[in-house]
Amino acid sequence: MHPAIRVQHLTKQYRLGTRARGGLNLTERLARVFRRAPTPAADFRALDDVSFDVHRGEAVGVIGRNGAGKSTLLKVLSRIVEPSGGRVELRGRVGSLLEVGTGFHPELTGRENVYLSGSVLGMSRREITRGFDAIVNFAGGEQFLDTPVKRYSSGMYVRLAFAIAAHLEPEILIVDEVLAVGDAAFQKRCLDRMAELAQSGRTILFVSHNMQLIPLLCKRAVQLERGRVVRTGDAGTVTAAYLNDLLADAKSGDLRDKPRTGDGRARFVRAWLADDAGRPLAHFVSGADFTVRVEIESSVAAPNVSAAVVIATQYGSRVVTSWTSEVGYRASLKPGIQAFECKFRDATFRPGHTLLVHLWLSDGEVLDSVENAVVVEVVGEPEHDHLSRDANQGVVVFDYDWREVPAG
Ligand SMILES: Nc1ncnc2c1ncn2[C@@H]1O[C@H](COP(=O)(O)OP(=O)(O)O)[C@@H](O)[C@H]1O
Ligand SMILES: [Mg+2]
Repeated sequence: MHPAIRVQHLTKQYRLGTRARGGLNLTERLARVFRRAPTPAADFRALDDVSFDVHRGEAVGVIGRNGAGKSTLLKVLSRIVEPSGGRVELRGRVGSLLEVGTGFHPELTGRENVYLSGSVLGMSRREITRGFDAIVNFAGGEQFLDTPVKRYSSGMYVRLAFAIAAHLEPEILIVDEVLAVGDAAFQKRCLDRMAELAQSGRTILFVSHNMQLIPLLCKRAVQLERGRVVRTGDAGTVTAAYLNDLLADAKSGDLRDKPRTGDGRARFVRAWLADDAGRPLAHFVSGADFTVRVEIESSVAAPNVSAAVVIATQYGSRVVTSWTSEVGYRASLKPGIQAFECKFRDATFRPGHTLLVHLWLSDGEVLDSVENAVVVEVVGEPEHDHLSRDANQGVVVFDYDWREVPAG
């Protein structure tokens, strides 16, 4: 039997620095004014030679760190994004629920979008009308049906999108991790509906960060990493191996999966406490130089960026901040990965403390901000043995003397 989804050598290339966020950047605008092509940027593969099959009636989970290419894969399969190479074959009607902002026509109302999605799925008007009430019920009522979708909150958007994807009788259902947006009760209804569809022989491709859910819902899983398939097989086995990767990340300083804020044009991808040669240190010896190395991956050229490294206690209070602007240092980012180092000299933290390092990056807009990017234990040498290890005795120790002085 033919597989329901066949992906062969799929590649999606993006031009670095072209991610449209707030339109063109200054160089691109100038290039346009002077009718010159922007400086050729490196190509970057969001998907790189991806191949796998999904059999009819199978539910398959797609997992991987942020930026691995999961959403891009789902967009290519839903024909929202054109592949740069390779092929996809889909046998059956595809209903998809992608990242908020894709799939709907923003100017049309909820009602109009239901009909539009149905006709994209190849359904007749009568067939759609038959499913209409179930969709409205599932989405939680009629009150927003005649509002243009661009006015919807992300919660409302996801409700309607899932209701459409799950009720317009798709043979293949493709779901990105958008379900995280809804409330718990709505999420449960969605998962129940997906299980129902899976049992009735529909084919499901499902992205999630929830490693408990994937083996419950899916028999098989595919793990992507930097655009490539790195594991496929039994869902329990693949999710367990992926969780091990995440543990190894914590040790190696990999930040790609950390919660963060910022617009993401440039991101901290690794950070660690370093020795003088830049190698990672297991812990910090009080009084040495406290050196934080970071690797920043940028998709844009940003010639004037400020960065901050903040050291805080485990209880959350800031001990010291280092800010590039304070010392007149300007970081200049190019597309790709660059490394920077911030060194606090002779940092006499009290042995026994656990320190948290926060990172921040901005070019006027916050590009990336990661809390607790590095966790550091402070230890002492034998010469520190006289010092109290009690965290209540202060975060730093200075050299100090006591002596008696003449009275009066
Ligand atoms: N339109 C785009 N232009 C340029 N780069 C993009 C675009 N869409 C996604 N990317 C990049 O492709 C990579 C994969 O993104 P994505 O598929 O969203 O990953 P995931 O869903 O696994 O987090 C990321 O590095 C992302 O920044
Ligand atoms: Mg995604």
